[in-house]
Parts: sequence; structure tokens; C-alpha cells
Amino acid sequence: MWSSNVQLGSELSISSIGVTTLAREFGTPAFILDEEDFRNRALSWNEALFSAFGNNAGTVYYAAKAFICVEVARWIKDLGIGIDVCTAGELAVALKAGIDPAKIEVHGNNKSVFEIEKAVSNNVGTIVVDSLFEIVRVAEAAKKFEKVQRILLRLTPGIEAHTHESIATAHEDVKFGFSIASGAAWRAIEEVRKHPNLELRGFHAHIGSQILETDAFAISAQRLIALLGQYRDAFSVELPELDLGGGYGVEYLPQDVALTPEKVMQELLQAVTINCSAHNLAIPKISIEPGRSIVGPTMFTIYEVGTIKDVTLENGANRRYISVDGGMSDNLRPALYGAQYTAVLANRTSSAEKISSRVVGKHCETGDIVIKEIDLESDIAPGDLLATPTTGAYGRSMATNYNHVPRPPVIAVKNGNARIILRRETEEDLLGLDI
Ligand code: LLP
Repeated sequence: MWSSNVQLGSELSISSIGVTTLAREFGTPAFILDEEDFRNRALSWNEALFSAFGNNAGTVYYAAKAFICVEVARWIKDLGIGIDVCTAGELAVALKAGIDPAKIEVHGNNKSVFEIEKAVSNNVGTIVVDSLFEIVRVAEAAKKFEKVQRILLRLTPGIEAHTHESIATAHEDVKFGFSIASGAAWRAIEEVRKHPNLELRGFHAHIGSQILETDAFAISAQRLIALLGQYRDAFSVELPELDLGGGYGVEYLPQDVALTPEKVMQELLQAVTINCSAHNLAIPKISIEPGRSIVGPTMFTIYEVGTIKDVTLENGANRRYISVDGGMSDNLRPALYGAQYTAVLANRTSSAEKISSRVVGKHCETGDIVIKEIDLESDIAPGDLLATPTTGAYGRSMATNYNHVPRPPVIAVKNGNARIILRRETEEDLLGLDI
């Protein structure tokens, strides 16, 4: 839940800097990012991939959608891993940070011609193709820039992953990819083979997000490998790559148990080895795309408490509403997916009894909830700071300006130093869009 340099002492601190100091210096709400923890987590996925697959390890593509800014993209570059981008905007960040284009993989179910041309002309390593239209569009762009573009086909292996329905992506009734079961994947393969400017490297699947069990990943690998076998039988050549996506879950609550990189990679190794041997295939290069499991636990959010209200429920019980200075604009996940978070009183300790509370934001709607039900100290008062762990993934990246709230900054902390890597938006930023 908390990143490795966080200490829960008399006040919560990170790398010996107290939250009170951070709040004073950078304001609230703010995302605090543990740089060392981010680097270690990214490296641990990379090491697990390489120690499991050895020469058959492909690339760890950090899923930028979980959170990206130019400085974090520079860390990705330093670490020597790859990046998965799914829009021209994310691609621009990766390029600005100087990431080797060969290490960029481009996703998206509706890439525009502009986005495809930008990717191809910047020499991205791989484009993951998602529709028949796109096969033609990527081929045309490759021809225009006189290239042979390496591609993967995004496939839907027909799996109901155990997660929220909005973030499960590999059952049949989804907008993503080509279904294996319906034959769409095979038609896509035949279409790709008509285009000399495309080099089909293999297949890709991403089955969903915040998944806490490994079985669905193994089934996905099994189905993709069966298709690799079919491809070899039809065309007498083996495709050299398989990208098994991301989706590894993290711990939001004390009772959650995350998948470790080692465990995931051992399970994938086993699934890949057994199925390749069953189809008499050489093991392809295996790539993965973790987003949340790298950045999620590396950030926490600091909020300041503004108002407090006690409400009597129909059954006579009391519910305390604690309002903080952010909410659904910086953490949309509770409203969107019913996601659950926890929080602590961060600027001091209190021995006051804990009472049933609801932490809510400052937006003009009832669903603006940060934490629906939590026992918090009864003496929490305006001006206190609350800290919410594990807000690194899909927090700042899905933040909005709802109610014209400027989006919070991201502050990176390392070796006792805190610095802004993504500044807070200002009213001028917001008004600057108005004509
Ligand atoms: N690869 C592809 C093709 C993806 O679509 C995604 C996430 C990932 C990798 C990274 O998945 P991760 O390792 O982060 O789970 N906004 C939602 C999550 C949406 C995930 C979208 N795709 C949430 O807040 O839970």
C-alpha cells in the first residue's frame, strides 16, 4: 500500500520529509511520488521477466496510461525498459524524454491516421494493430515513409478476467482486438500478409486490469500460443514475439494481496513452456506491459480536511462526512469503478476513538466520494491532513478539471529531496483555453 520510503510515525513522512512540510511547500491536494520505489518496482518486473525467460525475454513496456510525465519517462529511459503509449499525446511525452523509439509500442483501438503517421515516421518499434481498417492504415503509412513497420495483432482470447467489468478487456463482447474464437483473428492474419510494408511479429493480448490471480494470464498465453501453432502449420514459419499485456493487481486495502513479479513470471513461464512444447514451437520473445503494478503503490495523495459534518442515518446511526480539498477530480476510481481506498490522519497521531466516517471531495455531486466507509479518529478537524496510499495509477492520469478545479501536482521525493515534476495547474491554465 505505502511505498518503501514512507514512514508512519508521529506524522507520516517520506524519505524523512514530513507531510506537513510537503503540504506547506507544495500545497494540497498533491500526489507524492517515491522515485526510488518507482525505479525498483520497474526493475523488479524487468528482472523477473529476464530471470524467468532468459534469452526469450522480450521487453517490459511500462503502460504510460497508468501515469506518465516527461520526468517519469526519463526514468523509463534510464532504466532501459520500454513504454506502451496509446495516443499521440503519450507518444509525445515518450519522445520528449528521449526514449529510444525502438522501445516504444503503440496501442489503441482507434488510432487516427495522424497518430499512425506520427508513430511510423518516428520509427516506433512496434504498433499493436487492433482492426482491419488499421491494418490498411498502418500499411499505407509505412509505404508513405518507405518503411517496413513491425506490428503485433491484438487478440481477444475470450477470457472473463476477475475484475471490474469496465476494466476487463479480453472477453468476446469488447471493442478491443480480434477475436480468436470467431475467426476474426485469422482474417486479420490473412489481411496483414497482403501488405509487404508490414512485418507481423506476433500476437498481443491484454486481459484486463487489477487482476489478483494468475490463472487468466495462463489461459490467455495458452490461446495465443495455439494460434501461433496454427500460423506455423499454415505458413511454415514461426512468429517470434508474444506480448501478454499488463493488468497485475496491487494492494489498495490492508487485506489485499498483490501478485509479485516473480510469481507472475513463473506462472507465465510455465504456461508458455508447456503450450509451446505441446505445439512443437520454439519459445517466442515474451513481453509484458505492467502499468499499475509499477506506479500504483509509489504515490500517495495528501489532502487537507476542510469541513466536517455529522449526519443521522435512517437507522439512527451517525455518519461523519469529512470533506477534503480534492475528490473525484483527482481520483475518479471510486466513482467510476467503486474502487476502495484507505486513508490515515497524516500530520499527527491521535488516540481519539475511531468513528465511522466517509471521506468526500469538494465537487458538486453526491458520488464524489474518496472513501465510502472508514473508521477515522473522532478529533479530526479542519486543517488536518489525510493521506491516501496507492494513488499512483490512474489517479493523476485520469484527473479532470471538473468544477474548474486545477489538477494537482506530482512531487517526486528521493534521498530526502522533494521536487515538482508535474506542476499544479493554475486558474490561468484553465482560463487560457477560453476564447
Ligand atoms: N496494456 C494495455 C494494452 C492496456 O490497455 C493496459 C491498461 C495496460 C497494458 C496496463 O494495465 P495495468 O498493468 O495498469 O493494469 N482506468 C482503469 C484501468 C484501465 C486500464 C486500461 N488499460 C483503472 O483505474 O482501474
